[in-house]
Amino acid sequence: PLKKLKDGILSVRPPEEQKDTFDFDSNKDKSTVSITVVGASGDLAKKKIFPALFALYYEGFLPEHFTIFGYARSKMTDTELRNMVSKTLTCRIDKRENCGEKMEEFLERCFYHSGQYDSQENFAELDKRLKEHEAGRFPNRLFYLSIPPNIFINAVRCASLSASSAHGWTRVIVEKPFGRDCESSAALTRSLKQYLKEDQIFRIDHYLGKELVENLSVLRFSNLIFEPLWSRQYIRNVQFIFSEDFGTEGRGGYFDHYGIIRDIMQNHLLQILALFAMETPVSLDAEDIRNEKVKVLRSMRPLQLDDVVVGQYKSHTKGGTTYSGYTDDKTVPKDSLTPTFAAAALFIDNARWDGVPFLMKAGKALHTRSAEIRVQFRHVPGNLYNKNFGSYLDQATNELVIRVQPDEAIYLKINNKVPGLGMRLDASNLNLLYSARYSKEIPDAYERLLLDAIEGERRLFIRSDELDAAWSLFTPVLKELEQKKIVPENYPYGSRGPIGAHYLAARYKVRWG
Ligand code: NDP
Ligand code: BG6
Repeated sequence: PLKKLKDGILSVRPPEEQKDTFDFDSNKDKSTVSITVVGASGDLAKKKIFPALFALYYEGFLPEHFTIFGYARSKMTDTELRNMVSKTLTCRIDKRENCGEKMEEFLERCFYHSGQYDSQENFAELDKRLKEHEAGRFPNRLFYLSIPPNIFINAVRCASLSASSAHGWTRVIVEKPFGRDCESSAALTRSLKQYLKEDQIFRIDHYLGKELVENLSVLRFSNLIFEPLWSRQYIRNVQFIFSEDFGTEGRGGYFDHYGIIRDIMQNHLLQILALFAMETPVSLDAEDIRNEKVKVLRSMRPLQLDDVVVGQYKSHTKGGTTYSGYTDDKTVPKDSLTPTFAAAALFIDNARWDGVPFLMKAGKALHTRSAEIRVQFRHVPGNLYNKNFGSYLDQATNELVIRVQPDEAIYLKINNKVPGLGMRLDASNLNLLYSARYSKEIPDAYERLLLDAIEGERRLFIRSDELDAAWSLFTPVLKELEQKKIVPENYPYGSRGPIGAHYLAARYKVRWG
């Protein structure tokens, strides 16, 4: 897939079972992909999925023959769907040449079918319409489940029984949340597997589609200078930090059932941690990478209550504007104990990482929006400059920062001599700022993931054993927090979060970056 992307050529891969009987390369013009967005009337479909599909189309990454169907209960005609989609097709492509023309072409390939999520009959009608568009070509089908989790299984059942491809591949992209603990996640997997094989299920974690997260492995495994330092011998601690400068407004109903640990830590931050800490995979093959991720997740200690701090934002007035607190939202119970902030210390009990604290921090309604990985290195042993210049350098250990968003960058904090006749040292940055180095825009995570799903590339999707391992780390503490009714520490909207996060870090001799 890497080669194909670089060359800008896309060929639709055959399913494993048909590799021998269908020659896709010489029959490319005879195959087609139908993409059905289930829940097309919803927020995610409008905000992310349709814009990503359009960007892929604009960039020439969609196969020559494809059709997009929106499916939901809302009544809409094809034209109404196109109007809805065109209104929200504000994406990174907007200012590009021929954008309007390309958009027209794209919208002509978009259709809509209204139906219930639990009706085989309605999915059979969809199947009929898909067949009309597939018009004798070799049909492949991708379903994107952009619906609330309580209706996943019904939709999968109906889609697989009534609308899966009779000859080509059928794949289903499933959105988080994948359950809310070990048990519900395992039940969801069991139910999905009644209708789909594991290789048909594409569990999405959109953080894995982010450019700098993809780059983590490149950074580690294709540069001589990093990998030898990547262990307890040189690394003091690693921090995974997610913060948003807005609250849960409008999503309170969903959020209150999950909380920040399930919403961000158990998936997005843990996935980044696994990529960061895994051993070198045998190859870039999806199974080799996922095997290593599972191994490192299974080497981790389940999170302990003592190693977690939870918080919840309260209303705050600044510059004459009042920002509502979490429980001011009408869809959230007034006495909710759901954390909107959490900090945690995790440990990997293997030879490479023994004793190194992996700290996570995630919060809503904080002072800034960002996602970063911070790697703090150990002190230089016997540092000559410490001896000669007292304690000046005590704090100035090297730090590698991978800024996932915004203003994507990788920078390394080093000690440097301030130019001049004296001997003054200064902590400075070796800085790779993406916007200064690369003129090309960074694609949205959903573009990469949709393209991979169309191509059958599973590297960036979550396998069921990975999911089990991830839930095993967080389920006990989530249950304890709920059973003991742990009251989250309040923090004002727009602040840096509760002070407890600093005490937790200090316990491990860490300062948040
Ligand atoms: P929505 O709440 O907007 O729901 C999508 C569609 O599903 C709705 O337009 C509606 O379509 C249908 N629907 C909603 N509630 C019900 C219900 N109770 N019973 C039956 N149908 C219902 O969800 P989002 O688009 O926000 O999210 C879709 C999925 O993606 C969810 O699993 C969510 O957790 C996940 N997700 C969303 C993110 C986001 O930013 N929005 C981010 C990450 C994940 P109709 O009434 O027309 O049938
Ligand atoms: C989603 C969470 O998975 O990720 C949201 O459910 C969060 O709560 C979002 O806002 C953040 O994604 P991004 O790409 O905007 O950082």
